[in-house]
Amino acid sequence: MNDRISVMKTDITKLALDAIVNAANESLLGGGGVDGAIHRAAGPELLAECRALGGCPTGGARLTRGHRLPASYVIHTVGPVWRGGSHREPELLASCYQSCFQIAREHGLRSLAFPAISCGIYGYPIALAVEIAVRETRAALNADDAIENVIFACFGEDVHDAYVRALKAAQA
Ligand code: AR6
Repeated sequence: MNDRISVMKTDITKLALDAIVNAANESLLGGGGVDGAIHRAAGPELLAECRALGGCPTGGARLTRGHRLPASYVIHTVGPVWRGGSHREPELLASCYQSCFQIAREHGLRSLAFPAISCGIYGYPIALAVEIAVRETRAALNADDAIENVIFACFGEDVHDAYVRALKAAQA
């Protein structure tokens, strides 16, 4: 199971996979963090395609093409803003991963990379978010052989180490 999951210190915009996941906001019209990096690398055609989608609720996901990115597609998902943990944050974050995997299944996308959704500007505690990411990814891979390869793309050392720990704990 964990051999289909890897953790990489990398800029997600450089990955040539079937799809990369964007940590977007409900407008889907771009922002800072990984969202800004993806829009810069994909070019203005991505924003034009996003405009036509009319937004996305927190916990949901939407598919676009990758345009100038090396990845074929972008799955845009909207993580919850951390507000102390009692505002359905864990459920909404789990729903992001579930929605992304559902889109991947529906469109036959076999290789995916996720950023640490909600762990930047949205302030979700990294250890808690990563535990949900690993749990939902393992459940999706378990349920579906068609998804071959999932990468957790990490910008910082802290996020990278948290994924490594969570994957080890899930295997034990
Ligand atoms: N590749 C991989 N990871 C990255 C990259 C990159 N190029 N850039 C940042 N990260 P964030 P959020 C990491 O803030 O918390 C935007 O304005 C980053 O270090 O991008 O879900 C949206 O429009 C962190 O670990 O997303 C929303 O308004 C992780 O990606 C809001 O931010 C997520 O950080 C979403 O906030």
